[in-house]
Amino acid sequence: MTRPPEAVQRWSASDYAKNGRFVPELAGAVFAMLAPKPGECILDLGCGDGTLTAEIRAAGADVLGVDLSDELLAVARMKGLAVQKADGHALDFVQEFDAVFSNAALHWMRAPDLVIAGVARALKPKGRFVGEFGGHGNVAAIASAMRAVGAKRGGDPAKVAPWFFPTVEEYGGLLEAHGFTVREVALVPRPTPLKTGMDGWLMTFGQSFFDQFPEPDRTAALNEALDLLRPSLCDSQGRWTADHVRLRFSAERNA
Ligand code: BEZ
Repeated sequence: MTRPPEAVQRWSASDYAKNGRFVPELAGAVFAMLAPKPGECILDLGCGDGTLTAEIRAAGADVLGVDLSDELLAVARMKGLAVQKADGHALDFVQEFDAVFSNAALHWMRAPDLVIAGVARALKPKGRFVGEFGGHGNVAAIASAMRAVGAKRGGDPAKVAPWFFPTVEEYGGLLEAHGFTVREVALVPRPTPLKTGMDGWLMTFGQSFFDQFPEPDRTAALNEALDLLRPSLCDSQGRWTADHVRLRFSAERNA
């Protein structure tokens, strides 16, 4: 059996709340595609601190959140949500859910065959899999800057851009191969204003990359990345934008 890849990221709940606030705030379109209904049983895959899990519950559905981060799960539990620790590569639910939802999490799961097989198993026949995550070209400028800094400083290449950002064809093909009918799948460019700046983004989402350098090299590496990115992602007023591209999809498990 294929082994799931090792988790690449440790999450700090406070950093995430401060620098990743845009993640649930910009999830309106995918949430509308999920359209949770009262009484439905829904799995929130990669629920993080449970912000969207709570919205699914507020819509009247019975929702279980799963995530790998103990720290984020603790925050979700404090909100009174039903959550449990689980690796998205090894879901062990069998025909329990009407829908599986995932926002901004699937790009961290680098063996998508294992993930989609587990989602298919977890869904009832005709159940839906609805999600959004980084698609092909996501954070291309940011990843290139990290690659350049890593090459200059002799960083671990495995720590640069350790994400899965597929094309529409690749992800649609994976869904079909696992017994789904794809209803919608699209790449959506979504330049994202960063209220806490690019350093906040890099320290939160690129943490495993920058943490490989002991201080003072870590701060120097961060400043080098910022200098590389400033001409393309920072405007004349000092406002930063992340070059996000989302892959948004809705698929139905075949009966
Ligand atoms: C994203 O939401 O696009 C993203 C998050 C973390 C790392 C890379 C991309």
